[in-house]
Amino acid sequence: MDSIPANRRLWNKISGDYQHEHDPRIGAAPRLWGMYSIPDTHLRALGDVVGKRVLELGCGAGQWSRALAAEGADVVGFDLAETQLAAASAAMGASRYRLVQGAADQLPFATGSFDLVFCDFGGLSWAPPHLAVPQAARVLRPGGRLVFNVASPWFEACYDEPAGRVTTTLRQDYFGLAAIAEGDGATSYQLTYGDWVRVLRGAGLVIDDLIEPRPDPGSLNGYNETDPPDWAHRWPAELLWVTHKPEVPHAER
Ligand SMILES: C[S@@+](CC[C@H](N)C(=O)[O-])C[C@H]1O[C@@H](n2cnc3c(N)ncnc32)[C@H](O)[C@@H]1O
Repeated sequence: MDSIPANRRLWNKISGDYQHEHDPRIGAAPRLWGMYSIPDTHLRALGDVVGKRVLELGCGAGQWSRALAAEGADVVGFDLAETQLAAASAAMGASRYRLVQGAADQLPFATGSFDLVFCDFGGLSWAPPHLAVPQAARVLRPGGRLVFNVASPWFEACYDEPAGRVTTTLRQDYFGLAAIAEGDGATSYQLTYGDWVRVLRGAGLVIDDLIEPRPDPGSLNGYNETDPPDWAHRWPAELLWVTHKPEVPHAER
């Protein structure tokens, strides 16, 4: 089912509350990954962006895009929801970057337009990966990188819906996690490890690393309660995929 209209409605509706609650933390410093705000200086996922053409898929209020533009990247912040883009525009500051509205599953950019495509719980969590990953691969130049952070299947499978928190009990089946109902037709997406590998390789990408960000004990999860509180120190809550598009496509090697 096409989740684009419902996801747009959801994010337009919740953007104000979401930014009120999360912006201070997401934007507290440049390059903070995920639910535990782990600095990229620790994870080393994104690399140098100076002078690079960068696309953030599902940029929200643009905390990441703003930081990379300030470093000297030529950034496009891309998002489905106009209220999220309005928040990004309002917070843009001195380092200007372009904002474009659309869906990660239907990218309105020419083939080979970007050196780096990335997101942090953005378009690759909120658009069907079997559509969005090939789109991301298409708009990358040969040698360009796709780097993105999503929830891990462990985290999703242990989510206790009625209690509204993640526990140590498996609640959801691992197989078949694919589409997660977020209410009123809105949908987020989750793949098994094997399906991520197949979707990435199927789009012609090379997997360079799978970083499993590990917060220190006592780190706060800004989004979900967990039981025990150090859940993500003990099990992987997130998957940070580091991939690139080969200079020569697989079929030609
Ligand atoms: C959890 S936010 C992530 C943004 C930012 N990294 C953050 O942490 O706030 C998810 C974003 O994805 C956007 N989104 C939802 N569906 C999308 C789609 N199909 N294509 C592109 N963006 C989408 C939402 O509007 C929202 O801004």
